[in-house]
Amino acid sequence: MRQPLIAGNWKMNGTKASAKSLISGVVVGVTDLSKAEVLVCPPFPFLSLAESLLAGGRVQLGAQNLCTEAVGAYTGEVSADMLAEFGCRYVICGHSERRQYYGETDSLIGKKLLASCRGGLRPILCVGESLDQREQGQTESVLAAQIEGVIAETGVDLFEQVEIAYEPVWAIGTGRTATPEQAQAAHAFIRGRIGERSPSIAATIRILYGGSMKAANARDLLSQPDIDGGLIGGASLVVDDFVAICQAGDLLAG
Ligand code: PGA
Repeated sequence: MRQPLIAGNWKMNGTKASAKSLISGVVVGVTDLSKAEVLVCPPFPFLSLAESLLAGGRVQLGAQNLCTEAVGAYTGEVSADMLAEFGCRYVICGHSERRQYYGETDSLIGKKLLASCRGGLRPILCVGESLDQREQGQTESVLAAQIEGVIAETGVDLFEQVEIAYEPVWAIGTGRTATPEQAQAAHAFIRGRIGERSPSIAATIRILYGGSMKAANARDLLSQPDIDGGLIGGASLVVDDFVAICQAGDLLAG
């Protein structure tokens, strides 16, 4: 049984005041949950505040990006060790917005996975096709190329320490969600690709769904056999919405 992981990706949103009230609200809202793992990934400047608000609780802390290098002259970058020192356990790698706006390639993303694991963080590797690619029937070939491109850098064994997030680009921030059947098919495909290289890792790796997941659709998505949690953008900025998704994950964990 894979423990559900419900992760909030705040992206570049919030102020000190809103971060404080969002984190405090989530901490209170998920106190009674026992099964789902809950994670928030605020922007870098709020990590220290988040670390102190989350101390000793059940909500985990993660970051949204990191540098491939461990230390040195890399202006503007943040290392895995720095994130770990501020209480992070996870880091999102290769989000489609980073692929699209900052030119991140599968090879660079693979290096980020290696850097994360060296620093003791669990990377959440994001993969997913564009609308055009889906309409051309290329969903599986795109997912396969993204996964193989990363594994070429890391080897498959590293995936014992990795979570994957399937995030169809056409569903991110659009209000248009993959149907449970579409999402399940993509998740099963991803698990199958990993399974060709390592059946044991394929059985245990958590594959999260991301792309307009909300309280209203969380149950249907999370009840699919290969969907092990969610990576939530917009709805993670609203306490009640995010807590409702966490509750759905907790219930489905049985
Ligand atoms: P969304 O974002 O929930 O706002 O669609 C998900 C993500 O980009 O991780």
